[in-house]
Amino acid sequence: MKVGVVGCGMVGSAAAYALVLRGAASEVVLVDVNEALAEAQAQDIRHATPFAYAVTVRAGSYADLADAAVVILAAGANQKPGETRLELLGRNAEVFAAIIPPVLKAAPDAILLVATNPVDVMTQIATGLSGLPPERVIGSGTILDTARFRGLIANHLGISAKSTHGYVLGEHGDSEVLCWSSAIAGTVRVEDLARQVGKPLDDAAKADIDEKVRRAAYHIIAGKGATWYGIGGGLMRICQAIGGDERAMLTVSVVSDSIESVPQVAASLPRIVGRAGVLGTIMPDLDRDERDGLRRSVELLKQAATDVGF
Ligand code: 2OP
Repeated sequence: MKVGVVGCGMVGSAAAYALVLRGAASEVVLVDVNEALAEAQAQDIRHATPFAYAVTVRAGSYADLADAAVVILAAGANQKPGETRLELLGRNAEVFAAIIPPVLKAAPDAILLVATNPVDVMTQIATGLSGLPPERVIGSGTILDTARFRGLIANHLGISAKSTHGYVLGEHGDSEVLCWSSAIAGTVRVEDLARQVGKPLDDAAKADIDEKVRRAAYHIIAGKGATWYGIGGGLMRICQAIGGDERAMLTVSVVSDSIESVPQVAASLPRIVGRAGVLGTIMPDLDRDERDGLRRSVELLKQAATDVGF
């Protein structure tokens, strides 16, 4: 599978690196307005291929994206310390207006995988600008928040994150919803398992996990200026699900007809991801607070998209 990456800063390059380390693509093409940066990232990542998989990694122009199955859109500004993801919107909408036409010209059949923040609104913008069917314009959404949530619960319980399932839905950002009511480890509700292992998930433990998921990016940005490895892994995972036609359930963002009665809004729900993109959406059971939180989150996203004309 050929994957293009447009925007070769930390997020785009981390995604490319993860694709190489996991052999999740056969060819990766890096495109950036700064051609020297794209070339340098391609060389650096290529030097890891003898330790990983024989993936072809090269820098290129938009024309080199021809026949890509997926094009990752990672171009744009990222958050400064203290800045919210939504504050990036105006700047990054302009970047997408410039990059989407040449991507589509070169790779009309590609799935667009949006990483640029605020990712849900950028997914709505990319869907509008491209005219592609919504299932082919996928935002990384809360795939990373869901991973953070699973990891922190698993750590609390002392079991593998791979055996721990729980979703973060809605906005990839401050209004996201941590779905405690459906979180399970194995087939057991996490609260029940927590009691069994003598580490109750009481309100304080849940509040601590909530803070560490919701504020994760702020903490990391305060320490190193940006986040990239986690999202790089998440982007790789989405490409892997597409390339392997896995029908994997991942919390990603696409423009949906209606979420909690809000029409035409991009936000994360558990989606079935395979070769053709998003093949379906599964609505988990939500308790009343989670449902109210999801409604507030999608209302906020819809308003942000409407404010920029999408
Ligand atoms: C993250 O959550 C900043 O959206 C980025 O890591």
